[in-house]
Order: sequence, then C-alpha cells, then structure tokens
Amino acid sequence: MKKTLLPALLLFATMHAQAQDAKMNTFITNLMSKMTVDEKIGQLNLVIPGGSAVTGSVVSKDVDDKIRKGQVGGLFGITGPDKVRQAQKIAVDGSRLHIPLIFGLDVIHGHKTMFPIPLGLSCSWDTALIKKSASIAASEATADGLNWAFSPMVDIARDARWGRISEGSGEDPFLGSQIAKAMVQGYQGTGYKSARNVMACVKHFALYGAAEAGREYNTVDMSKIKMYEYYLPPYKAAIDAGAASIMSSFNEIDGVPATGNKWLLTDLLRTQWGFKGFVVSDYTSLSEMTNHGVGDYQAVSALALNAGLDMDMVAEGFLNTLKKSLTEGKVTQKQIDDACRRILEAKYKLGLFDDPYRFIDESRPAKDILSDENRKAAREIAAHSFVLLKNNAGILPLKKSGTLAVVGPLADSKRNMLGTWSVAGDYTKSVTLLEGIKNVAGDVNVIYAKGANITDDPFLIKRANALDANAKEITTDAKSPDALISDAVDAASKADVIIAAVGESADMTGESSSRADISLPESQENLLKALVKTGKPVVIVLFNGRPLVLNWESANANALLDVWFGGTEAGNAIADVLFGNYSPSGKITASFPMSVGQIPVYYNHKNTGRPYNGEDFAKFKSDYLDIPNEPLYPFGFGLSYGNFTYGDVKVDKTTLKGNETLTATVTVTNTGKYGGEETVQLYISDPVASVTRSVEDLKGFKKITLQPGESKDVTFAVTTDMLKFYSNNLKYDWEAGQFFVRIGGNSHDVKSASVMWSK
Ligand code: BGC
Repeated sequence: MKKTLLPALLLFATMHAQAQDAKMNTFITNLMSKMTVDEKIGQLNLVIPGGSAVTGSVVSKDVDDKIRKGQVGGLFGITGPDKVRQAQKIAVDGSRLHIPLIFGLDVIHGHKTMFPIPLGLSCSWDTALIKKSASIAASEATADGLNWAFSPMVDIARDARWGRISEGSGEDPFLGSQIAKAMVQGYQGTGYKSARNVMACVKHFALYGAAEAGREYNTVDMSKIKMYEYYLPPYKAAIDAGAASIMSSFNEIDGVPATGNKWLLTDLLRTQWGFKGFVVSDYTSLSEMTNHGVGDYQAVSALALNAGLDMDMVAEGFLNTLKKSLTEGKVTQKQIDDACRRILEAKYKLGLFDDPYRFIDESRPAKDILSDENRKAAREIAAHSFVLLKNNAGILPLKKSGTLAVVGPLADSKRNMLGTWSVAGDYTKSVTLLEGIKNVAGDVNVIYAKGANITDDPFLIKRANALDANAKEITTDAKSPDALISDAVDAASKADVIIAAVGESADMTGESSSRADISLPESQENLLKALVKTGKPVVIVLFNGRPLVLNWESANANALLDVWFGGTEAGNAIADVLFGNYSPSGKITASFPMSVGQIPVYYNHKNTGRPYNGEDFAKFKSDYLDIPNEPLYPFGFGLSYGNFTYGDVKVDKTTLKGNETLTATVTVTNTGKYGGEETVQLYISDPVASVTRSVEDLKGFKKITLQPGESKDVTFAVTTDMLKFYSNNLKYDWEAGQFFVRIGGNSHDVKSASVMWSK
C-alpha cells in the first residue's frame, strides 16, 4: 500500500508546486509589465532609516520619500509592529504600484530572548536545540513585525584573532554544515504559511572568515581546493536546506570583491549549486568596491549587477547609477528584470501581496517576546553551550552550602551577558552570574567583589566601547586597580571557593573587533594572580567570544568553565552548571591556541613532508623551536562531571568494495560519579590519495546520555560519501585504499580502526 502511495503523493506534490510557481510567475510578469525601469531598480534597493539599530557607518536618507517614489524594495534596522506598519503603509498606500516592503534585521542568536553567541551555540553540537533557538528567534522577530533574518552566519574561521569568529560555528565544515541546515530550518520552518517563520539569509558569501592575519575586512586569497573542501560546504548546506537569500561578503575572492564576483554569484551559486533565491550585498559592500580598486561608483554598481547581485544594501549604487548604465549599454534590461523578479518572488512567497500586514500584529509582542517559555529554552540551551575545560580534583560541581567569593568584572555585568550582535536584545533583562548563583543556590553565602576592570588600557577601552557610548561595556571603577584587587582578596580570604568571572567585554568580539593579542587583559591577569596566591580553590568562569590564549589560567586555576556570552539567561544557566543541576556537555568548535604565533591552528591540517609527531624534538621537522604544535585545547574537546572512557573501535568488515557500508562501533562507559551527555565524534583519515588530505576530517557525531556506571554502544554507518574529496580538477569522488576510522571524545584523543576499501 505504502509503496504505491508514495510515488503518487510525490507526483501530486510536484504538480502542486509547479502550479503554484506558474501562478506566481503570471502574477509577477503581470506586475512587472506595469513597472517602469525606475520602479524595477527601486526594488533592488535596501535601506536603513537609522534611529533604531544601526549596524554600519552610514544610514539612508529621505527613506519615507523614497518609499513613496517606489525607490525602496526593503528596509532593515527597525523593530516593532507599529514602526513596521508605518513604513509598510507608506509603501502600500503611498507608492504608485502599492508593492509591499520586506523587513530585515540582524537576528543572529535570538531576537529579544537572546541565546548564546553562535560560537557558543555550536559547542552544544546539538542541532535540535540550535534549530529550536532559531525557531524561537523567528517567532519573536515576526512578533516584532519582521520577516527576514540576516542569519545564519556560516563562515568557517581558523583564526581566533578575527572578531567575527564569535558569529559562526568554528573551524569545521561538517559540523558547520549541520548547524547551517538546522538554523535555516529553524528560521524558515516549513514555509511562510505561518507568519511565525522568517526568510533566512546565509552569510557572508564567501570565505570572509579567512581574512589575512585575522584583521577585519582584510584580503582573502585561497586555492580552489581549500575553498571547496573546507570553506564552501556550510554555504552549500544552507542553500540545500532552502535558504531564501544569501549575503555577499566584504572580501575579495581571486582578486575580485565578492559583491562583484560573477564566478561566485552566478557560476558557482546559481549554475553549479542551483540557488533560486536572491543575493543581497553586505552593508555598502557595493560602493566599497571602489576602495578595493575595481572602478568608480557607476562601474562597481554595473559590475555587481553583471555578477549576479540582486539587492544593494545601503550603498544605493543601483538606485543612483543603473539607469545610466542601462542607457550606456553597461547592463541589460534583462539583468535588471531578473534581479527585480527575484525580489518580487521573495515577497510573493512571504505572502505579502495577499496581505502586506500579515507579519504585523500589535498584540503579539506582549505574548510572544521574552515569554517565560522562551526564557526557559534560553536557559536550557545556554547550559548546553558551556565547555568545561578543566576540573581538577572534581572541584565542580559546587556544594550548595558554605561561602563563595564571586569576583571579577564579568560577575555582575548585565551589559556584557548578551554578547555581540544582540541588536534587538535588551541587556537590562539579562541575568548576571551573581544573580544566577543567588537564584540557584539560595543557601550559599555569597561575597561579591568586582576585583578589576575588564581592562585598564585606555587605547583598548576607547575602541572596544565605540559601539555604544551611552551604555559602555567597559567601565572604569572609581576605585584604583590595587584597591579593587584588595577587595577581591579580602572576599576570597573569607570564602571556601573563589568564582572568578573574567574575560572579554561583549563587543571585544564581533564585527570590527579583531584582536592581535588574545590573552586576558592585564588588569584581569593581575586579579587572577592575586586570587591564586590566596591558596583558595579558584574556578574561572570565562566569558569570551573567541578562543583565548589561556596557558597560565589553565595551569593555575582549579577549574575553567568557558561560558561564552550566554544570552538573556546566562547567569541562571551558569549557576545550573556550577551547582551540578546540569552536567556540562559542550565541546569546543575552534581550537584554543597555545600562542598567537600558532594561528591558524586547526585540527584538520595537512601532514606535510616533515611531520612532527609531538614526541622528542628533532631538527628538520615541521615545528617551532619555542612552542609545541598542538593547541592548548583541541577541536572537539570538553569535559563533563561524568567521566567517559572509550573502548576500541570495532568494525564489521576490514575489506570493503564499492558502495558497501561499514559499521563502526565503540563502547562508551561513564566511569564517573555523575551522569552526563557526551558527544561521540567520528573522524576519517585517508592517508594516501592523489592530492594531500588533512590528517583527519570530522564525518559524524552522536550525543548520548550516560548515567554513572552505564555503558552504551555507539554505532556509525560509514559510507563512501564520507570518503569523498576534491581532486586537483575539483572532481568530487573517493579513491580506493586504506582508511582509518577514528572515534573519540575530541579530535585528538581517538581510537582507530583500519579498513581497505576498493572500488
Ligand atoms: C555585517 C552583516 C550585517 C549587516 C547588516 C554588516 O556590517 O557584515 O553581517 O548583516 O551589516 O546589519
């Protein structure tokens, strides 16, 4: 019965989709037949009116007037049904053809209920929870009148100096792809029949995370193999998951800025990958192509349209020059029509032509934004994002009794809980660590001392506070640094355990926040040294948007819990973990370097001709004289209150042929005293191939829960798809030979089995 029904259902679904498309095409063709060239170009213009969330250095002028004249296709940076309605009304009632606008915003890790920063979210390795966070963000964003989220950011980053590493999922393309897919599904749901889903916008296309020296907006230059193998997969995964739009990046690729790069925006994106949505530029990335040095304002605007860009964010190069370029034969009418059609299609699919106000419901914010349910989810998700990097002698979890000294500049700083890119987030609604500890462990006697400023360096303070002069993230206490430390030592002397909340301010990562020195600022190092000197156990709770260099901290603290920027419920979630209500299960998704000099440092590196295996130093190996090659903490690493031990990898065959499937099993046992979750990771190594391969690549992972004493068999099905790679001529296939199947709790500590696989 089922067998006969399924093809019929599929056929019906395809026919239905085709009929819907035909209906849409007729509608749009009809509408476009009435549009002037100016009105078509107007649809390609995305503006930001200013006043609310401004995320770049210029804002658009005369927005209302432009909407009335049909010179605006979409608007971003405003929130709230009232404001969105006002703008939509101008478009619908005031413009000649009544074409509705789309409304976007940087909804990056939550809208008003903020979740952990994306790098933190990725450390949960929990795609179901990540999807849930995106779906809650979509629900809150639509309650605020929006229908377009500038997310997910899927740029692979191997350089912790780059501030925007905080916005992505770290260094691995496989994990990055799974998360990209989960986020698109979370935002877009099963479509826009429900006005609680938003269009996703994958960004930044492409390779932005490979900016040279980690310096913001810097040049990118990389081989095609590296691109295809390591950097492009997450964008492709997001598109395969149905992402409706994509944002071009600021950087150049092969000498041509992404926003004007035809190979990227047309050959790769549309021809090879079959992308059907629309491409929007990044903030003024169109006009910035003049600085890149590829032409004047008119020339770069024509370059962008020719390349395949559909919508121009803020630069207004399309608006101001395309008509002239059309008359001069520098662009074609068809190119303008194609771009305009893609924008109108997005509006049609959102249902805006049926009801331009369908995302605008003034009764929703009170019910749907920052609800108890959303905050509960934020607390749960945040707890899953924390990574326990060290826990000497089981100092954690803490007892809910005795005296705690809670010290450090991040211990009671609402301003710094949400992290970067929380444009609609309200930090006053966030829970600090101090508050969380009081909420979760009421009977604990808590003594608080600030202990230090985040930094005392005026140069850094000025720059790191530049985003918001009215609500500074780094404040300088009236007390001197010495007096602050002495208060903290005083508190510590009365306590059983010291909790030291240290790290970066929220916007010491994020856009335009690259750092050359990624250690803790001196003020906080001084505090930590004084605390360690007291001889009391020190638990570092680390707030950070990037991997930091933590050699001293790692050697001297008794425990180290990385909590990123956990969002609205950060403090409660941290306390949940500190007191053992939830056993930490996060695993880092970007290697923590031992020294900035190792960067880029990442697990899936090549072997080289003179590999150094980490044992006794010998001359003429690929290594350093002064430091080891290994990072301080490798990709995939993270502890639990449980203790997970891995048995050997058992394979069901050692020789395979063609498209057979290999079953690899490992037994994981919790030998610890506490139950917990463990992410079991599968890596594959292909030691001989026609091109050099990385030493291993992540190809699967499974999250399991184990009670004390419990064992579970974890099984992975290894297929030939997992063996595939890009050859010199970019052919994607696998080659016969030996493979190692490696399974473990992080990229470094793995058990291995060898198999021979022939074609
Ligand atoms: C950022 C994008 C963001 C855009 C709009 C740009 O500066 O690079 O990630 O979506 O601004 O705010």
